[in-house]
Amino acid sequence: MISRSTIQKVNDTADILDVVGAFVKLKKRGANYLGNCPFHNEKTPSFTVSPSKGIYKCFGCGKAGNVITFIQEHEKLTYPESIIWLAKRYHIEVEETAVSQEVKELQQTEESLRIINTFATDYFKNTLHHTEEGQLIGLSYFQERGFRKETIEKFQLGYCLSHQDKLPQEAIQKGYNKDLLVKAGLIYDRNNNLQSVYYGRVIFPIHNQSGKVLGFGARILKSNEKSPKYINTPENELYHKSKTLYGIYYSRGAISKQDECYLVEGYTDVISLHQAGVENVVASSGTSLTEEQLKLIKRLTSNLTILYDGDAAGIKAALRGLDMAIEQGLNVQVVLLPDNHDPDSYVKETGAAGFINYVSQNKKDIILFKLEASLKEANNDSLKKTALINDIAETLSKINKLEDFTKQDDYIRRCSQLLQIDEAGLISLVNKKIREKASKRDESNREELENLEKQASPENTHEQNEVSSLLQKDYLQEKGLLRILLEYGDRPYDEKSTIAEYIKYKIGDTDFTNVEWKNLYHAYLIEWSNTAQYPTLQSFTYNDNEKLRTSAIEALYFPYELSENWEKEHHISTPTREMTLREDVDHTVTYFILRKIKATYYELLESLRDPENEQEEQLTQLAMLDLKQNESELLSYLKVVAIR
Ligand code: UTP
Ligand code: MN
Repeated sequence: MISRSTIQKVNDTADILDVVGAFVKLKKRGANYLGNCPFHNEKTPSFTVSPSKGIYKCFGCGKAGNVITFIQEHEKLTYPESIIWLAKRYHIEVEETAVSQEVKELQQTEESLRIINTFATDYFKNTLHHTEEGQLIGLSYFQERGFRKETIEKFQLGYCLSHQDKLPQEAIQKGYNKDLLVKAGLIYDRNNNLQSVYYGRVIFPIHNQSGKVLGFGARILKSNEKSPKYINTPENELYHKSKTLYGIYYSRGAISKQDECYLVEGYTDVISLHQAGVENVVASSGTSLTEEQLKLIKRLTSNLTILYDGDAAGIKAALRGLDMAIEQGLNVQVVLLPDNHDPDSYVKETGAAGFINYVSQNKKDIILFKLEASLKEANNDSLKKTALINDIAETLSKINKLEDFTKQDDYIRRCSQLLQIDEAGLISLVNKKIREKASKRDESNREELENLEKQASPENTHEQNEVSSLLQKDYLQEKGLLRILLEYGDRPYDEKSTIAEYIKYKIGDTDFTNVEWKNLYHAYLIEWSNTAQYPTLQSFTYNDNEKLRTSAIEALYFPYELSENWEKEHHISTPTREMTLREDVDHTVTYFILRKIKATYYELLESLRDPENEQEEQLTQLAMLDLKQNESELLSYLKVVAIR
């Protein structure tokens, strides 16, 4: 873990104008800076940076954050990676905190598994080359497949004896821990009867990027309907299938040099292509790509070419990962190999030059490929076509990186031609998707809103509308309260108390409708009481807790500033925040009280349905009248404020 003091230093040193300015051309506009948003396609700038608050916000797509999250989004890094990125830029030394016991144990297990895998790799290699069974069965299988000696050695291929006791005996005798051997996927433990898992199979070690063996794929030799063709290492502390690409260690140099990565399905495809001299290739091991795998590729190249034998399953799997790949900024192409060929068999037939030539001649852009295929399937069915347009707009909306803007325009043009629809219409649909995505960030909050709406009486739509507009109001009011608290909590409200004190006194523990504002409010109160100081804005906009951080940035008053000349030209002065501050506090607090009154009113109304006795009933009615009176007074106050 990166130490708090390093994070603090990065926060203090990194200048948001400098960092954002490295990627976005910014112009001064009032107290803020304005530029074209790097996260969505726009012609008029709506991306605003506030150097004084150290945050940015786009009024087009809604993206907002601090200097660290900017790097995180823009460079597609994790939060800690972004801190390291910034530390490097500002020559700040990164300090690691002492690791917890839990982390230490995890690291120990990882290390032990690594040692066991090294042992097993050597053991399987040795068996392949130096035992009779290994040579007769394993080695001759590889030779039959056309793997040369140096290829077998390079990929550290091996063989596991068919006698099930042999590997466990050797491993235990060498002092390896039984439970770890099980965890590594090498042996079964059946009531202390230890048996080899991969017996009678050839072994493909799976390496990470730096050549360490993480696990194995073990292929059966006879076709046997009962056993799977491959047995792979199970998920453990060291081996995470979703983060691994077979061949990455041997291929990374070539991928980066040729600025292109071929993706195939199988272990043997990777090996055959390497042997033929085509080295920029990795395998996904028969599943659709994960985000982590795409990131591994993206570090080496932006060009991904998926090679599939013509069967539908492989293509479906590739298309499933398409939007994710585009989001990573990858250019994805697809190549279908001639009938009944996989990369392994095809490169054997054509050789490297023929193979590369075929690939470059038959590359198809995957977005257009997908569109053409779906259009064929839709077959002029207008319902299907509508769904298709929606779908393609969704895909195109994922192209959101700075360098890809012209690409998006290009796709929109070509897709609208293929679909025979109006280009402008497709543009606005794509932009709508981008906006929707931005507002979806608040998934949990939205869900909460929806649940509350559902609770409202379903048969009365009028009431339902009222409830939903009320909830919308609640959201804004609660947000407003937090904004005042975060930005001006330490300012005086009157002679006696600060704004924070006044709010706490008036609102106390009132239930918030929206979790995000509730959490932020409580976090504020807790930090305030823990430190006996008013929490700073920074302590929330740079909070370790991502949810708090996002909510805080969302809450901040961050106007879309008018140009400096505007006021001069129009002889209008816009009131500053400070001038309206006290009014804002009163307004917001009043709203909260009103809501409380409403809630109490409905509770009383509910109790009237089933009154205990007549006297009780009268009292309740009186109380309700009182509340109504109170409410109308407060409401007329709010109206006065609202009209001003
Ligand atoms: P293939 O059946 O194409 O395997 O499955 P292959 O590696 O090309 O092997 P050969 O050419 O038949 O010898 C593609 C990939 O799917 C995974 C493996 O990663 C394999 O490389 N797979 C397949 C499994 O994990 N388990 C299976 O039972 C089958
Ligand atoms: Mn194969």
